[in-house]
Amino acid sequence: MATIEKISDASIEAAAARLRAGGLVAFPTETVYGLGADATDDRAVAEIFAAKKRPDFNPLIVHVPNLEAARTLGDFDAASLSLARRFWPGALTLVVPRRKACAVSKLASAGLDTLALRVPAHPGAQKLLRETARPVAAPSANASGRLSPTEAGHVALSLPDADLLILDGGPCTVGLESTVVAANGDGVTILRPGGVTKEDIEAALGMSVGLAVTDDTAPRSPGMLASHYAPSRPLRMNASAPENGEAWLGFGAGPADADLNLSATGDTSEAAANLFAMLHTLDRPRFTGIAVSPIPEQGLGIAINDRLRRAAAQVIET
Ligand code: TXA
Ligand code: MG
Repeated sequence: MATIEKISDASIEAAAARLRAGGLVAFPTETVYGLGADATDDRAVAEIFAAKKRPDFNPLIVHVPNLEAARTLGDFDAASLSLARRFWPGALTLVVPRRKACAVSKLASAGLDTLALRVPAHPGAQKLLRETARPVAAPSANASGRLSPTEAGHVALSLPDADLLILDGGPCTVGLESTVVAANGDGVTILRPGGVTKEDIEAALGMSVGLAVTDDTAPRSPGMLASHYAPSRPLRMNASAPENGEAWLGFGAGPADADLNLSATGDTSEAAANLFAMLHTLDRPRFTGIAVSPIPEQGLGIAINDRLRRAAAQVIET
């Protein structure tokens, strides 16, 4: 059963001990809540897949407290180093080749010879990683294919049966998952848009970067199945008004009678922070579906629209 505890020095210590003993801990990051396990422990990593009912071809992000720790696990080329120095700690995940002596379970990277690494900025996550003193594998703490959690209560609702300690650090400030970037010598590609924008990445590198196209038969970033992030009700994008029984999720100054508004001032950062919590709130039996106002396709709007398109695809992942 899942238990929620307010984040504190004592609960972080207990959580670190639990992780070191092979248990599961859900913890806040600035992006979304993660479902963590000791990344060097095959059995503990397997528990993550079991708790999420996640297809085992889908590799996990491994969290470490700093670049130094990341470099003991993966090989960083010039581009990944400059991205790490610019955006870590923060909402960026770098996919790099595994080092030969990498201690991370092969299961965490789903048998790939690359590893997704992230240094979160959230002070509670930082403290937990330092106390645990092991790399922590952590996908978003939701059942596979479902909305990512941005509050501790979302985790408990999505994974009610998991043997799990949930550290409650309040709502996540970014609210969208990290941007997943692969840099491997033959260029830099965004595998998943997220909390750090394409524009910021291009500015840091001084060059343009590609955005991987989702292909459900051979996803480059296997979590990018079209069905990801689905609420259980149909979702309709670019809506100018709700239709028969739909909830209306507005954006900008226009929709005064929207049920909720992602950002009345049209601020995409505010909209990102509100996105999953508002979708959770509107995913209720009294509505037949969720209609969402248009979001501009720029800055964080790219990642928001990416998540909305996946939610609208409405195919539940197996
Ligand atoms: O913000 C986040 O990234 C959150 C917090 C908890 O850190 N984590 C998260 O993890 O969203 P998850 O497992 O839900 O998404 C990980 C993404 C998936 O799209 C996965 O396919 C991709 O990263 N990924 C992981 N390892 C990879 C690899 N070696 N090559 C390509 N993609 C990889
Ligand atoms: Mg996820």
